[in-house]
Amino acid sequence: MITGKVAELLESTQYLQEVVVNGWVRSFRSNRFIALNDGSTINNLQCVVDYEKLSEDTLRRITVGAAIKVKGTLVESQGSGQKVEVQANSVEILGDADPEEVKLTILSPKRHSFEKLREQAHLRVRTNTFGAVMRLRSKLAFAIHSYFQENNFHFVNTPIITGSDAEGAGEMFKVTSFDLDNVPRNEDGSVNYREDFFGKETNLTVSGQLEGETYALGLGQIYTFGPTFRAENSNTSRHLAEFWMVEPEMAFCDLAGNMDIAEKFIKYVLKYILDNCKDDLAFLEERLANEDKSKPEAERSPMNLTEKLKFVIENNFKRVSYTEAIDILKNSKPNKKKKFNYIIEEWGADLQSEHERYLVEKHFKCPVILFDYPANIKAFYMRLNEDGKTVRAMDILFPGIGEIVGGSQREERLEVLQKKMQALDIDEKELWWYLDTRRFGTCVHSGFGLGFERLVQFATGMGNIRDVIPYPRTPLNAEF
Ligand code: 4AD
Ligand code: MG
Repeated sequence: MITGKVAELLESTQYLQEVVVNGWVRSFRSNRFIALNDGSTINNLQCVVDYEKLSEDTLRRITVGAAIKVKGTLVESQGSGQKVEVQANSVEILGDADPEEVKLTILSPKRHSFEKLREQAHLRVRTNTFGAVMRLRSKLAFAIHSYFQENNFHFVNTPIITGSDAEGAGEMFKVTSFDLDNVPRNEDGSVNYREDFFGKETNLTVSGQLEGETYALGLGQIYTFGPTFRAENSNTSRHLAEFWMVEPEMAFCDLAGNMDIAEKFIKYVLKYILDNCKDDLAFLEERLANEDKSKPEAERSPMNLTEKLKFVIENNFKRVSYTEAIDILKNSKPNKKKKFNYIIEEWGADLQSEHERYLVEKHFKCPVILFDYPANIKAFYMRLNEDGKTVRAMDILFPGIGEIVGGSQREERLEVLQKKMQALDIDEKELWWYLDTRRFGTCVHSGFGLGFERLVQFATGMGNIRDVIPYPRTPLNAEF
C-alpha cells in the first residue's frame, strides 16, 4: 500500500497497486464519481465509489470542500479525460464541509469574480485559477534561485528593518515599539526616538540595494529575494504596499553587462516554467482566452499565453535610450492629438505608465530596455554619464505590465557621490557605511530590482497584482 499525491498517482502506471490518497472533494457525481484534489496539481484524481460498500452516513458526508482519505486500487480509467482512477474500497471523512455553509462561500461550484475571491483569500487557493497561479509563483521562485546559484551569485538576506531612508523609492512605513498614545517627546515637542526600541527612527525597507551593494563588493555577485514595503497611495493593478523583490548586484559589471544579465535571467525563468509547468499554464491560457472573448475585438490579445512567453524568450529586448524614447513619444499620435494624460513636451519629462505602454505595446511591440535617463528623475546612487546630465539607469518594460525591472550602474566615485548627496540633502552621517565602500577598493558595479509579483503577473496572464500574491496589502486593506 502506497500513500501518494494526486500528481504522482496520475502519472503512475502501476496498475492494480493498492493506494491511499488524501484530498478535498471538488465534486461528487451520481453517488459514484469523486473528483479529488490535493493541491499537488491542477488535475483531479477520479475516485470511483461503490455506494453499496459505504455507509449511508459516509456517502452523505462526501460533499464539495470536505477533506477525505480514500483507500483503493489504482486502475486504468474506463472513462475519457484521465489515464488512471482509483477504485475506492473505503472512504474516511477527515473534515466535513456543511453544504449549506459551503453555499455561502466561494467554494460553491459556480463562477465567482476575482473581487469576490479576494474577499475570501483564505479559500481561493482551492480554486483552479489560484491553485495554478500559486504553484507557478512557487516554481518561478525556484527558477530564480536556480539561475543565480548556477551563475555564481550568492544569496544574501538584507535587513527588513532599516535605519536609513536614502533609497528615495517611495514612502516608508515606520517601525516603532512606542505606545502611540503616549509617545516620548523632546522639549521642542518633536518625537524622542532615542527612547524607541532601536534608539533611532526606523522603517520597513523599500529595497535591499544599498546593503546588497556592500555585499557585492566582497562576495562579487549577490542577490536578495525578500519582501519590500512601500506606503505609496497607489491603487493600481500593478502596485502593492508589500511586495517581493529580487535584487542582484554585481561587482566589476557596467550598465551593458547589467542589461545582459537582466535579459538572460528573465528568459531563463520564463523558459523554466514553460518547460516545467505545462498543466497550470495550459489552464491559465484557456482562462485568458475565454476572458479575451468577452472583450471588444480591438482589445483582444493577438497572442495566447504560451506564445507571449515564447516571444519574450526568443526575441532580443529592444534597447533604447531615454533621449530616443522622448523623440518617439513627442512625435507619436497620442501625444500630438493630446490623448496622453501627460503630454510630453520636452527632454527631462518623467515617463508615466501610459508612455511606457505606448513604447512597448504600440511602437516596438516587444520588451524594451530604456537606459540613460536624466539624472534628476532618478535616485542619487546612479552613475553619472560623461555628459553630466544623464545617469546609467535602465528600466525594463514589458507588454501589459509596464516596468518590471529597475536598475543601474552605481556611482563608484566617492567625490561625485558625495556631491550628489549634498545636492539632495542626504546626510553623509546616515550613510557612512555606504560611502566606506567607495573608500576601500571601490569598483564599477551594477544591479537591478525585479518586482516578483509583476513577473508572476506576466507569466500567468493575471490582470491584477492582488491576484498573484496570497494576501495582498494595498491602501485600506490588510485583511487576513
Ligand atoms: O524601480 P524600483 O523602485 O527600484 C529599486 O528599488 C532599486 N533599488 C532596485 C535595484 O536597483 N536594486 O523597484 C524595482 C522593481 C520595479 O521595477 C517593479 O517591478 C517593482 O520593483 N515594484 C513594485 N512592485 C509591486 N508594487 C509596488 N508598489 C512596486 N514598486 C516597485
Ligand atoms: Mg523604478
